[in-house]
Amino acid sequence: MTFLSATLDRVKPSPTIAVTTKAAELKAAGRDVIGLGAGEPDFDTPQNIKDAGIAAINAGKTKYTAVDGIPELKEAVCAKFKRDNDLTYTPAQVTVGTGGKQVLYNAFMATLNQGDEVIIPAPYWVSYPDMVLLAGGEPVAVAASLETNFKITAAQLEAAITPKTKWFLFNSPSNPTGAGYSWEELKALTDVLMHHPHVWVMTDDMYEHLAYDDFKFCTPAQVEPGLYDRTLTVNGVSKAYAMTGWRIGYAAGPETLIKAMRKVQSQSTSNPCSVSQYAAVEALNGPQDFLAPNNEMFVRRRDLVVDMLNAAEGIICPKPEGAFYVYPSIADCIGKTSAAGTLIDNDETFATALLEETGVAVVFGAAFGLSPNFRVSYATSDESLKEACTRIQNFCKGLS
Ligand SMILES: Cc1ncc(COP(=O)(O)O)c(C=O)c1O
Repeated sequence: MTFLSATLDRVKPSPTIAVTTKAAELKAAGRDVIGLGAGEPDFDTPQNIKDAGIAAINAGKTKYTAVDGIPELKEAVCAKFKRDNDLTYTPAQVTVGTGGKQVLYNAFMATLNQGDEVIIPAPYWVSYPDMVLLAGGEPVAVAASLETNFKITAAQLEAAITPKTKWFLFNSPSNPTGAGYSWEELKALTDVLMHHPHVWVMTDDMYEHLAYDDFKFCTPAQVEPGLYDRTLTVNGVSKAYAMTGWRIGYAAGPETLIKAMRKVQSQSTSNPCSVSQYAAVEALNGPQDFLAPNNEMFVRRRDLVVDMLNAAEGIICPKPEGAFYVYPSIADCIGKTSAAGTLIDNDETFATALLEETGVAVVFGAAFGLSPNFRVSYATSDESLKEACTRIQNFCKGLS
């Protein structure tokens, strides 16, 4: 329809939402569906954080605030970066938005001109390429492989950089793979970037606190202080604090960039929800001791899922360092036919047949730019995970 913007032709609706919708339809029709598609923790926002939100409402903190965040939250963000990442920022270098998603979007809108390239390691979070396209830029995917545990190499990054490269977009631990770059692995990438002063770094550290075993989270400006003046460090409270619905994300970086991002936000949504901002102050400044037991639970679930999926015929599932996702390969299932007679010719038909024949909802790999795979979110109960993985094993056994 010509009435609609031509820019919209460049983007697709979120495939993860499509899977969730399909699973909800089957559930509504009475089917026994186990959803492994959701990208959010299955526990509640901690009580002290809820109480801070309630107190803000009762204190009448329900009006417009400064466009990109109340001073208390910007201070809390600065303290967080110092405490957790050894990064020094002033409140003028901090912006707060409606979720990490808006912060990332603001950054692209504030910086991309027609034809500017953004390097995105694949598999990637589904929204990255489409945000770049909406802002008029060109996503350049660099495919990681199963063999490197879904991490790109320095040589791949070097080969992808052109004079048009504006940003390198980095995400560790990753959605959808859970892969986390060690200090040495990240340093290999930042060394490349030091040779290309025109390339800026946008790092999405949303899963920072969901790091397991002996994996230690690190972020580009910390690993290579020489990149501090051209790095935007993005983070948020959604995942670690189970606050996905509160919609608070934040970033720190050079003041000129932060000001430009504020301009975008001032002419689109204005401030993020006032009440949520006060709750986020409590999340960042309050006790962090619930993180460790939560992570123990996630490690147990990750190990359960990895072991059960690796026991399924035709599936290879690496064990990731963080987040709450695994991204198994189904290369050996392609070309086979399911028990109900569906030809599995790619990961989308695999996910559709799996949902229709067993009631297990996963997201197909093509949505994340690397196939043939699927993404499992293990942010759900042990019982559901065991049952879902048993159904996946039986589904794979039935392939011929
Ligand atoms: C890698 C990554 N970045 C950003 C976001 C968005 O976070 P928020 O809910 O704070 O907008 C998500 C959410 O799924 C994510 O997985």
